[in-house]
Amino acid sequence: MLTTLTSVLKHAEKHRYAVGAFNINNLETLQAIMDAAEAEHSPVILSTSEGAIDYAGMDELAALAHIAAKKTKLPVVFHLDHGKNYDLVVKAIKSGWYTSVMYDGSSLPLKENIRRTKKIVEMAHKKKISVEAELGAIAGIEDFISVEERDAHLTDPEQAREFVASTGCDALAVAVGTKHGAYKFKGESKLDYGRLKRIAEAVDVPLVLHGASGIPANIKRICTQYGCEISAAKGVSDAAVKKAVTLGVRKVNVDTDLRLAFDAGIRKFLKERPEVIDPREILKPAKELMTKVVRHKMKTLGSSGKG
Ligand code: G3H
Ligand code: 13P
Ligand code: ZN
Repeated sequence: MLTTLTSVLKHAEKHRYAVGAFNINNLETLQAIMDAAEAEHSPVILSTSEGAIDYAGMDELAALAHIAAKKTKLPVVFHLDHGKNYDLVVKAIKSGWYTSVMYDGSSLPLKENIRRTKKIVEMAHKKKISVEAELGAIAGIEDFISVEERDAHLTDPEQAREFVASTGCDALAVAVGTKHGAYKFKGESKLDYGRLKRIAEAVDVPLVLHGASGIPANIKRICTQYGCEISAAKGVSDAAVKKAVTLGVRKVNVDTDLRLAFDAGIRKFLKERPEVIDPREILKPAKELMTKVVRHKMKTLGSSGKG
């Protein structure tokens, strides 16, 4: 059942858990995520990035997501992830496919981010589409040379209050020390929990944690064993994600873990079964590993059984 981000996150807020937003690029990834959602009985957010739309097409990905949503009783949100291109966000709203869009104006000066986000919110709300916005630069804590530099880039709680009040956005992506991709930390996961708590107190919309892949050790081991060079990869620990959820995070974005699982499955299968040329056989273990990863994340977020 297709639904809005707002309605899914309202339930998550009431019951103090978070919903996973998983990126889709192809049929197999979509199937793996939906298999996990069914097995966990969890609500789910299917995200399409600008890159995914370039790769597979907006209509093509939307058609897959809509069919999947139609076939299940679970709440499914179809979401545009990191819409940095204003015109693409408008296109997504007008397409009639999306129940939620993210307008990402985080790289713009604050005033311009507010101005554009507000316009997107007005446009989207007329069509009952939810809007996620972003404030701050999503980068790992270790990326900043000084505390001053860190403070200038991570989300400021008072600015977040002003931003949400001025834009009317439905959810806010915050920068509290996570980072996109496989290389988030040199040592243990370090998030700025104090900042996260202050932001949650300052705003009355659900918070979103981007860059929340965990780089599971078992998946990393398979990738590495079969030739993928990612030895320095380090993700956000389950404990860190759980703590962020207790502090008010209600949407958690995961893409890299799916990429790793896909990669691990394919590399292992091709090495062990060099005689196979059927893509359906080659992609099957990749799909199964992705489902495992998504199920684990749903359990960590507390969304299992909430669908
Ligand atoms: O936040 C970024 C997601 O991992 C999507 O990545 O833009 O390469 O599709 P992408
Ligand atoms: P990861 O790179 O940690 O999977 O984050 C994905 C993300 O934030 C998508 O918006
Ligand atoms: Zn992101």
